[in-house]
Amino acid sequence: MSPSVIMETHDKVGLIRINRPEAFNALNDEVMDGIGSALAGFEADEAIGCIVLTGNDKAFAAGADIAAIKDFGYMDTYKADFITRNWERIKTCRKPIIAAVAGYALGGGCEIAMMCDMIFAAENAKFGQPEIKLGTLPGAGGTQRLPRAIGKAKAMDLCLTGRMMDAVEAERCGLVARIFPTDRLIEETLAAAQTIASYSQPVVMMIKEAVNRAFETSLTEGLLFERRSFHASFALEDQKEGMTAFIEKRKPVFKNR
Ligand code: HXC
Repeated sequence: MSPSVIMETHDKVGLIRINRPEAFNALNDEVMDGIGSALAGFEADEAIGCIVLTGNDKAFAAGADIAAIKDFGYMDTYKADFITRNWERIKTCRKPIIAAVAGYALGGGCEIAMMCDMIFAAENAKFGQPEIKLGTLPGAGGTQRLPRAIGKAKAMDLCLTGRMMDAVEAERCGLVARIFPTDRLIEETLAAAQTIASYSQPVVMMIKEAVNRAFETSLTEGLLFERRSFHASFALEDQKEGMTAFIEKRKPVFKNR
């Protein structure tokens, strides 16, 4: 049996493929544990500067595995700390993660895409929070990250009707950073990821941290966090190299320190 999560290395980029095509990449414990350990592996690998999370042409992930969870009782979910236990590793990763979404990103699939730092979509991508049709609600951040990404009106529309949104609508309302033809999604996402991975890793991490701060703090506190991080960047060898290289009209060679 092929593994339900596949790890590939493309130069400085770590690629994680969810691989349960028979179930539209429905997310079970094996997949979530696999994503978690792949992320841990790429985080520990100093040669990796950016991570891409993807599925296949038909599905990024069609949500939590309904067959696996349908008989859960409250105590099963509470005692096992369902979601919190192994779904939130994406959130704690300090290296940037791009979700490359083709096909369905529904329920938990849409939610793990939103846990990533940005979403690149194929033209055939479809996003939705259809949990309401199953008699439950989004449990991995859908009711919280969607309004922050696309505003209250669209978030309410998606969560309360369970309808799907295509890639064009998703880009228009700010859920998606870029759209590509479906057969070019991985190539284009890897190219963007290589660009990110070519920069100074500590600077990349500081920028990710600062942007995420914008969703957790007041503007004044966020600006202070940014300012102090900016000041701190002047302690980096990479800042000296970057600015010197510009003056000397050459490409910088960053050492990630
Ligand atoms: C388990 C799933 C699945 C899922 C699809 N499959 N989605 N199995 N969990 N989430 C399986 C089907 O049972 C079927 O298996 C096979 O994949 C193909 O699916 P079909 O329905 O036959 O295909 P199609 O008619 O093309 O429709 C595709 C689809 C539909 C639109 C993606 O499958 C669908 O609506 N899936 C459920 C989407 C959903 O409700 N997601 C939210 C889940 S709850 P067989 O064996 O029959 O071939 C959730 C909670 C989040 O995510 C809370 C935090 C985790």
